[in-house]
Parts: sequence; structure tokens; C-alpha cells
Amino acid sequence: MPPAETFLHQLRTALDAGGFVKLTLSSPLDADPGLRNVYGRVVALKGGPQLSLLLRYATRDTTKNFPFAEGLARIKPLVESGFASAHLFTTTGDWELRQRPGEPPRIKARRATFNVAPSPDHDRLKPRIVAPDVTYLQALGVTNAQGAPRPGMADKLRQIQRFVEIFSHLLNEQEGALTPSPDARSLRVVDMGAGKGYLTFAVADFLRNAGYNAWVKGVEFRADLVELTNQVAKDAGIEGLHFEQGTIAQHGLSSGLDVLIALHACDTATDDAIFQGISGGASLIITAPCCHKEIRPQLTAPPVLADVFRHGILCERESEILTDSVRALLLEIHGYKSSVFEFISHEHTGKNLMLTAVKRPRQTDPDAARRRLRELLAFYGITNQRLARLLGEL
Ligand SMILES: C[S@@+](CC[C@H](N)C(=O)[O-])C[C@H]1O[C@@H](n2cnc3c(N)ncnc32)[C@H](O)[C@@H]1O
Repeated sequence: MPPAETFLHQLRTALDAGGFVKLTLSSPLDADPGLRNVYGRVVALKGGPQLSLLLRYATRDTTKNFPFAEGLARIKPLVESGFASAHLFTTTGDWELRQRPGEPPRIKARRATFNVAPSPDHDRLKPRIVAPDVTYLQALGVTNAQGAPRPGMADKLRQIQRFVEIFSHLLNEQEGALTPSPDARSLRVVDMGAGKGYLTFAVADFLRNAGYNAWVKGVEFRADLVELTNQVAKDAGIEGLHFEQGTIAQHGLSSGLDVLIALHACDTATDDAIFQGISGGASLIITAPCCHKEIRPQLTAPPVLADVFRHGILCERESEILTDSVRALLLEIHGYKSSVFEFISHEHTGKNLMLTAVKRPRQTDPDAARRRLRELLAFYGITNQRLARLLGEL
């Protein structure tokens, strides 16, 4: 049987037997321009279970639900000739179909990642980019065996899901410009200050499910966390994911990095991480800075702002805003398009600002941005900022 036919047969069998977990198509072959991925899952509707297909385009998603037979008919041409990579997860085994142009098609069977099919109830109608019932979330104590958040972990789960959503959109935006490599779908990601690894795991799992040949490394200072996360990665069978003990500033990164992540790395550790990202040649840098301590004692109030700086909390906020503005400007000077935004609402966490940078295909003249940086630093009397020093801008 040709590999695509075997794949469709396994899909049909799993749907009929109630063992279907999810389906992902990735690496589009441009049959439908702009279509990047297709995600399939089962949802419970009034007339019975249906196959729900989410079509992800560069700038929008569309979801349609079909009775199984019709859904299979819709998915068939996409599996056969629309995508180079297809992953099927069932409770009896996982299947990976590869149909790269110029290569013979291949299908691989693997041990099942999931041993129960997700419940197709109403609450699950909203597609989740990180399934809450995955084994690593259970092992890390985020969710229980039913995929529900453990007490006190609902915000963490929301944060992980939101982060991967942002990550996937940034990756779509950047895909064409990622560091060229012999295998266009291979990706090197480093997560600095990985902690318990919630986001590192979610990124590694998301990338593998999306068909990337991803190598994801978490760097963490605490040896106990490194030991724990390496064990969970091994038990969950996530390929290409590992954790190393070390400090952000001293971690030697070779060039050829694609993505640098540093979420909630304290104070100037964020600067060290951004510097590592820039020097490693990362195309995408994603940070959520916290504990901005470096600039505050240096701030000299320009006379017109004396009434702002009189209030401790406002002075603190001003120094946070300033630190991240300086970092964003430094990233622009070094060839990135930077953005700052709230990534999760204030109700859920105070540490909710994200600073991201996407490498521009061509370097623009940095002189104007450099001039603006000098003026900004001089206006507030700042003589020391770690990232500016590391980059030789001070
Ligand atoms: C607040 S936690 C954040 C964990 C994870 N990034 C997240 O957002 O869920 C910060 C982690 O970074 C680690 N860390 C802080 N400074 C570091 C440094 N300079 N080098 C390596 N790890 C560091 C801490 O040990 C801690 O586990």
C-alpha cells in the first residue's frame, strides 16, 4: 500500500474505533497558497462526533466541522499532495508521513504518545495549541491525568498556551528568513533560564508536531531542575529536547542558532540572553523581561519629569519602560525588527510584557537609531546599561 494510503487507512480506523487523538499537516507544498498547517481533532456536536479541521493561513485561521466520511474526503487530497509532512496521533500508535519533493515517500510508526483519546466535549471546541493532557504537562505538575489544571496552575497553563500561540505566529512571520540550513525544516532553539521547563517542553513538542526537525536546549542554573527536566523529557520521549546546567552569561553558544527564548530571566540576565541571541545569529528572539533593577539608581529626573519621579512606583515603572525601550532600540540597531506587547492579561500575572525581535532580511542603516539611543540615555542620565555595554554601544 502506498504510504499516503496507509496513513489515511490508519486515520479512518482510529476515527471509527474512537482512538483518534489529533492530526497535523505541515510543510505545505503550495497547493493552496498561504495555507501553512492543518490541524484535525474530534468535537462533539448535536448530531454526534465530527472531524474538526482547523486551516491555518499566514494571517488567519478557519475551522470547519465535518461528519467523519466527509472530513476524510476533505483531508485526503491534502494528505496525498498538499503537505510534505503529516503526523497522526492515535491511542494505538503515532504515524508520521513524509513526502518531500524529490524523495520517495516514507511512513514511520511510533509508540503512542497518548493512551487515551481526548474527550470531544463542548469545552474543547476551541482549538488548543498545547493539549492540556500531554504527558509532560502532567509530569511537570501543571495538569492532572484528565488534562485539567492542578490547583493553582490554571494561569500557568494559560500562559504556556498563549506563549506557544505567539511563538507559532512569530515563526510563521519569520519562516522565510530563518538561517538557511541543509534541511529547511531543521531548527535550533535555546531557552535561557528555563526553570522547570514548561515553555521549553511546549515549544519542543509544538515544533515536532508541526513537522520541524527541532533541537531545543534549556539552559538553567539550578542543577536539581536540570535533572528533573531531563528525566521528564526522557520519559515523555520528546526527541531533540535536553537541558544543560549553566549560567546565561557564560553559556557558550555556537553560531547557527535560530531562536533564542528568555522568559522571566531576572534583571540583567535578560540582557545576557539577548546578547547571546544576537551573537549566535538568532533570527527570532523572544523575551519577557523582569526585575528591572539596573537603570533605576542611575535615573536623573529631567526637571520637567520631577513630579513623575517623586513617586517611587512611577519611578520604578518609568525605569522598566526605559530599560525595555533601550533593549528594543539596541535590537533595531543590530538588524532586528523589535516589538513590545502584553502577552497575557494583567489579571493573570504582573510579568506580562513581551519583547520580541525578528531579524530583518537586510540590515538597515543603524546610525539614526544609534543617535536616538544616545539622546535617550543622555536625557535620563543613564551611563550604564548591560546590553548596550555588551554590544559596544556604551
Ligand atoms: C522565574 S524562572 C522562569 C522560568 C521559565 N523561563 C518560565 O518563564 O517559566 C527564572 C529561572 O531562570 C533561572 N536563572 C536566573 N538567572 C539565571 C542565569 N543567570 N543563568 C541561568 N539560569 C538563570 C532561575 O534559576 C530560574 O529557574
